[in-house]
Amino acid sequence: MNRGRYLTRRHVLWMSLSCLGCAGTTIAHSEGCSTSLTSSSDRSPTANSLNSELPERFPVSGRSPLRSRASARGLIYGAAASSKLVSDERYAAAFARECGILVPENALKWQALRPSPEVYDFADSDWFAEFARDHDMLFRGHTLVWDKALPDWFEEKVNRRNAEQFLVEHITTVVRHYAGQMHSWDVVNEAVAAERSDRHDGLHSSPWLQFLGKDYIDLAFQVAAEADPETMLVYNDRWLDYDISRDNPQRIAVLNLLEYLKAKGTPVHALGIQAHLNASRYEQFNPEQVRGFLRDVASLGLKILITELDVRDSYVQDTIEVRDRMVARMYEEYLSVVLDEPAVIAVLTWGLSDRYTWLSNFAPRDDGADLRPLPLDRNFNRKLAWNAIARALERAPRR
Ligand code: G3I
Repeated sequence: MNRGRYLTRRHVLWMSLSCLGCAGTTIAHSEGCSTSLTSSSDRSPTANSLNSELPERFPVSGRSPLRSRASARGLIYGAAASSKLVSDERYAAAFARECGILVPENALKWQALRPSPEVYDFADSDWFAEFARDHDMLFRGHTLVWDKALPDWFEEKVNRRNAEQFLVEHITTVVRHYAGQMHSWDVVNEAVAAERSDRHDGLHSSPWLQFLGKDYIDLAFQVAAEADPETMLVYNDRWLDYDISRDNPQRIAVLNLLEYLKAKGTPVHALGIQAHLNASRYEQFNPEQVRGFLRDVASLGLKILITELDVRDSYVQDTIEVRDRMVARMYEEYLSVVLDEPAVIAVLTWGLSDRYTWLSNFAPRDDGADLRPLPLDRNFNRKLAWNAIARALERAPRR
């Protein structure tokens, strides 16, 4: 393990300098409820200069779906399912064909499960669990502890005195409800925001941190393990992908957190890497850096899941054909690197079809055109991104 990656005073200094280095960035878009810093390099004015360097085709043999290409290598492929899965038959058919694992995009968040402090409503999430079961898919849970997607009543009801009780009761009830059915749970989501944090450990200032201190993370994992001793417990986070001032300190802080948890005996089994990628950032993807990070995580005895993969084309000013090639190139490059790491066991895209992507709301294009960040287009046809994923899965070393 590369000890030099852990948070030393030198790293703290470097993290501070990184923050200074991004003083010129502008807050341009929101990611979920959290704000993303988008630097000017996100917004490539035109991709034409890249056109000749882009692969034109991403040839794939056969028609077999991603789920079987993945399982042939001992891997799992699947996607986040939006609520439209209930009503859109074409979407449901494509999902059943391509996916070996399903994670509800929103149905297991507090906002969805907790209409009031006393009530748990599992109707929607149970529907997803049944869909997964009926189509021979694994089912995974997202997410038990996050400071976003909280119900309106949360702010009024939860405070320093009762936060632990709320946390423990929520995790116990929800994890027990699905005990024996869950492949894995994102127990804690996005606890780190290193570039913006004023703490030496890079932790994000959430109500959980304010009310309970850093060990809310350990507590959440302990309670989840007690409620379902068989499921895989995942720490899930973002901004781990690029060689940029947002992601470099994030990798260090996440690694430090994982080491802290392992040293404490916290029952954390895997790291979930969200991997919300950006077609305009291809040049800022540094394979050796990411390989080193994955190796360090694996050396802690952890598995790794790519949990929310997509490639936004919000800032590429070019034809659909070029945008698709740029998106596919980012998918193939990223996956060929991460799938080389044996600890990586699963890849999930954050959505399956461009018809239903969170990015339409959160990072729309200036020209109003539809985004094309996912493997299937709006009509559920496979596109180059699908080919790129299929190729990377097929070339992955067998697990
Ligand atoms: O359910 C209400 C609906 O009743 C209402 O009519 C509608 C009107 O806007 O809003 C609906 O809720 C929205 C929900 O998505 C379902 O569409 C919320 O406002 C909206 O905030 C929510 O956004 C989700 C976001 O997380 C926050 O929970 C996105 O769909 C979802 O893709 C996104 O996912 C996150 C992961 O959980 C964590 N990692 C980042 C990722 C992307 O931000």
